[in-house]
Amino acid sequence: MAEAFLPYGRQTIDEADIAAVAAALRGDFLTTGPTVAAFEADFARATGAAHAVSCANGTAALHLAALALGLGPGDVVIVPTLTFLATANAARYVGAEVCFADVDPDNGLMTPETLARAAEAAAKAGRGPVKSVSPVHLSGQVCDMERIAAIARRAGWSVVEDACHAVGGSGVGDCRHSDMAVFSLHPVKTITAGEGGVVTTQQPALAERLFRLRSHGMMRAPEAFTEKDQAFDAAGAANPWYYEMPEPGFNYRLTDIQAALAISQLKKLSAFVARRQALAARYDRALARLAPAVRPVPRAGTPALHLYVVLIDFAGIGISRAEIMRRLREAGIGTQVHYVPVHRQPYYRARYGMLDLPGADAYYARALSLPLFPAMADSDVDRVADALARVIG
Ligand SMILES: Cc1ncc(COP(=O)(O)O)c(C=O)c1O
Repeated sequence: MAEAFLPYGRQTIDEADIAAVAAALRGDFLTTGPTVAAFEADFARATGAAHAVSCANGTAALHLAALALGLGPGDVVIVPTLTFLATANAARYVGAEVCFADVDPDNGLMTPETLARAAEAAAKAGRGPVKSVSPVHLSGQVCDMERIAAIARRAGWSVVEDACHAVGGSGVGDCRHSDMAVFSLHPVKTITAGEGGVVTTQQPALAERLFRLRSHGMMRAPEAFTEKDQAFDAAGAANPWYYEMPEPGFNYRLTDIQAALAISQLKKLSAFVARRQALAARYDRALARLAPAVRPVPRAGTPALHLYVVLIDFAGIGISRAEIMRRLREAGIGTQVHYVPVHRQPYYRARYGMLDLPGADAYYARALSLPLFPAMADSDVDRVADALARVIG
């Protein structure tokens, strides 16, 4: 019998998740209601943040964070080039310019050193003052936030952590070293809502603005109404239908159906993280025989792994990455490359020219993500390692 296809990542859904969604469907709210609020309270507790604001997806979360900071044309945001498109695009959504930072060639993370170099490049490019930096916790590793935040503090920049890969990581989301942290609840991520996103923050003013911007920019708190003539009646009571929009927002709301799934998934976060760590440790052992041609990424921080990435010396072994991916696929094994450095995308090349970011190029040239998700069996790891060994000879 053919073995089941192993994708590089997938959701883990059990009967409790299905029951939670079914209960939401039987409830009074389908869109944003009490289940969304309950999820936000659970997520804040799980990450150690004072506030968690849910939204439609991780991209919307990045957009909301940029809006909440008031970034706009004439501002520059530093973003590591080794990330998903959305981290950089969020700056463009608000009209800000992107300055791409290089990354460590071995783990793909922006470092304090590559950040400092990016700041110098931004000053030289003269597109405007740097206002914010978005460290990305790639694959679930954790950036050196203490040193990155120290640089940002000295320079007066805001910090938005892109933690879309890193829910469950040590200190991730508590915003001790950042203004906000942003999460994705896409099915390949560690926990899912189908689609979904969250922004965490310790700052009540940012939370208030995020809540407002995710729902059209509307607010209903009478004490904040500015247009007294239309907000209040002659006796000074707030009109019950009345709402105000100080600035336009979006419809970026999460639904109660999604939140029900997210609450159920969040209960399993530590089990999912532990299983991913155990599978990664097994990969490390199973792949040791393929060194030095194949090496696991030397992981930084205390990771809650979203991806298991190996670095392969394709030139040294004389087989291209495309060929290895094709042959693994024939063996029923899905792999992926995270990511094409964003500065190489035609849109950004046309805007900023071809940049020289050798750390990102070196990482990109060697990276391959192998299957990693909690429902994998130990024997699946051995199967992938054996197939890779066969393919590279
Ligand atoms: C690093 C990173 N940032 C942002 C996003 C965007 O998240 P979403 O797909 O939920 O919009 C992703 C998702 O792929 C991601 O990997």
